[in-house]
Amino acid sequence: MSGPPRFQRYDKRHYNDEYYDDRYYYRNDYYGQDQRYYYDEPRLPTGPRATTAPRGNAQPTFKRAKVSNKNVMEDEEEDTWQPEMLFMRHVDIKGPVFERINQVGEGTYGKVYKAKNKITGQLVALKRLRLESEREGFPITASREIGLLQSFDHPNIVGLSEMMVEKNAVYMVFTYMNHDLAGILQQAEIVISDGEKKNIFKQLLRGINYLHTKKVIHRDIKGSNILLDEKGVLKITDFGLARRMKNINSNVESPNYTNRVITLWYRPPEILLGSTDYGREVDIWGIGCLLIELFTRHAIFQGTDEVDQLWKVYDIMGTITTDEWPDCDKLPWFEMLRPNSHKPSLFRSKFGSLLSPQCFDLATKLLSKNPKNRISASEALRHPYFVEEPLEQKLQFLSKIEGEWHEFEAKKKRKLLREAKQKEMTNVSG
Ligand SMILES: Nc1ncnc2c1ncn2[C@@H]1O[C@H](COP(=O)(O)OP(=O)(O)OP(=O)(O)O)[C@@H](O)[C@H]1O
Ligand SMILES: [Mg+2]
Repeated sequence: MSGPPRFQRYDKRHYNDEYYDDRYYYRNDYYGQDQRYYYDEPRLPTGPRATTAPRGNAQPTFKRAKVSNKNVMEDEEEDTWQPEMLFMRHVDIKGPVFERINQVGEGTYGKVYKAKNKITGQLVALKRLRLESEREGFPITASREIGLLQSFDHPNIVGLSEMMVEKNAVYMVFTYMNHDLAGILQQAEIVISDGEKKNIFKQLLRGINYLHTKKVIHRDIKGSNILLDEKGVLKITDFGLARRMKNINSNVESPNYTNRVITLWYRPPEILLGSTDYGREVDIWGIGCLLIELFTRHAIFQGTDEVDQLWKVYDIMGTITTDEWPDCDKLPWFEMLRPNSHKPSLFRSKFGSLLSPQCFDLATKLLSKNPKNRISASEALRHPYFVEEPLEQKLQFLSKIEGEWHEFEAKKKRKLLREAKQKEMTNVSG
């Protein structure tokens, strides 16, 4: 009979352990048919006694395959080897350890590359710090970002694996994440179910809640800073603007934070009105904007400058009054930016039918103009939205996505489409 010998099992109890271990029993099964790995099948006593224990001192005999022990050792080592054991291996790598694959991000402070660790094969993101303009040593903003990242340990917050210096450039090394929320939401063909949206939003709230319990304000919540991997894990990244809250007596002192923070479209009204004693609520506004964006695929307030941004907020949420926000008139730029007329809120008429009643209720609480009335992350996690049907679902849409979508690639795709369209127009008119 041709073909591989059939799998046969022998009863271990019959023989002395000295001669046997598990590997003899599964010759063509678990260990595969590669004879290099393996001793040959033991020659068992033949005849009627073959299935019974040998009597007295009788021992089975077997022959060794032509294989050196060295090979067996090496292959076993391969199976159990872990990246942490790196120092134990002889590494013969020429050039940099990280092989760059492509660019995945272009931030204000530097470029982000997808790269592969040549030794472990692990994919990483390398975030290059911009140092060219630094004449006075390592930038304090970068060391603040690194310090904060090192203090975090949560599944929904990105982890800094290491730092790398290469040709006078400094890089932060992160585990690679296939997508970011901005990149995904811009692809109309990617369909996300309501249960999946709930899952995304819950992970986002968990991450923010962790930061807020550690008294850290992120100060740049937006889709491109929310990463997703292929397993459906969400991680908040980009702590370039984040800071730990000051420990002060708020009755007598003001924390005096800078209000030049947060990407314009996600900036809350208190910052647009010049507040410098804001708190964790500024992140919650951004989270509220993202909840709406999960459903509409567009940023809800798209201003062109600071003043226009405030008008965009007033257009949908209504103008502010001292009834709902008693001390709003004490904000530095309140008088300067006082609107001429009162506008009612159009929030319900615009989004009431798009979201479920509980989801709409949560969105209203996240987007409260008065920061004191804005729901906190821990309260939001207990909101009935999370227990109403449909319940949160595993992110199955991720396994169907073609390509990897970060804001960077999405921008590139939009530019190509625009150029193709323009070309078509000129062809038609020509
Ligand atoms: N670990 C990662 N895996 C994959 N992509 C990443 C990772 N970290 C960042 N990116 C991509 O690179 C982009 C820029 O990264 P990041 O936000 O950290 O830099 P930044 O310079 O502070 O950006 P910006 O100023 O635009 O907010 C992100 O929007 C994301 O698409
Ligand atoms: Mg960013």
